Amino acid sequence: MSSVDIVGPEHLEASNLFYRDPELYDGVQSDSDSARICRALIDRHHPEARTLLDFGCGTGRDLERLAQHFDCIGVDLQPCLVDYARRTRPELDFRVGDIRTVRLGHTADALACLGNSLAYVHDNQDVQGAFQTFAAHAHPETLLVLCSPVAPIGPSCPQQTHVETPLGTATVTISYEWDLRTQINTMRRHWDFASGEEAHDVIRRRVLGPRELELYATQAGFDVVEITDESGVSSVTGPGAYTVARYRG
Ligand SMILES: C[S@@+](CC[C@H](N)C(=O)[O-])C[C@H]1O[C@@H](n2cnc3c(N)ncnc32)[C@H](O)[C@@H]1O
Repeated sequence: MSSVDIVGPEHLEASNLFYRDPELYDGVQSDSDSARICRALIDRHHPEARTLLDFGCGTGRDLERLAQHFDCIGVDLQPCLVDYARRTRPELDFRVGDIRTVRLGHTADALACLGNSLAYVHDNQDVQGAFQTFAAHAHPETLLVLCSPVAPIGPSCPQQTHVETPLGTATVTISYEWDLRTQINTMRRHWDFASGEEAHDVIRRRVLGPRELELYATQAGFDVVEITDESGVSSVTGPGAYTVARYRG
């Protein structure tokens, strides 16, 4: 299947308020549990792991927490996020790179791809490329921890939520569309800030079901050892899940 999606860094930056304002992104997501769950899954399945690569690391928020336990490198497609990550977390190692093609020239004990980063890769061939990237940075026993959407959030009435931001409370109106043909879940957000400013987002995420993830992982040389829900403790219910896979070489 091919898609007309453009997933270049400029396009991503334009599509998402968080990428245009990484400080806001960090602030709003500061209570994210991803790093803790990722660490717990690595402890459960590969407690000897010492080195970690985070693909699609964004602002480096999770990497900062993971770096308390692992020697880490973060990779992201968007130079603006990597600049921000380097500025705010100067002790960490961040690189600009595309998950579909990047080759750092070495492997790590654990590979992370958190916060739905893989979902920004829309085409099957590119998803295959991403898994080949994981394999290129793996040695036997390397553990992959992937957090991604496994089921769509269906169309519903727009939902409203309130988000605390450094600019005050914002009212965010969110709606979803689901395209079964492309398996793209589109989220539209309208932001109303207390200041009277407004912003719009259109975020398009590819959904891959558990069996599809298993297939891509297996083809790239990984065996799935667990797929768990977003709490990291019970069986998968969607819409997001953690897939944990071990490289067999
Ligand atoms: C929703 S953010 C998640 C960021 C971070 N993992 C987190 O949880 O905060 C998705 C990230 O994936 C990155 N991304 C999208 N496509 C990518 C690609 N082809 N290669 C590398 N990173 C990519 C984006 O730049 C963005 O930082």
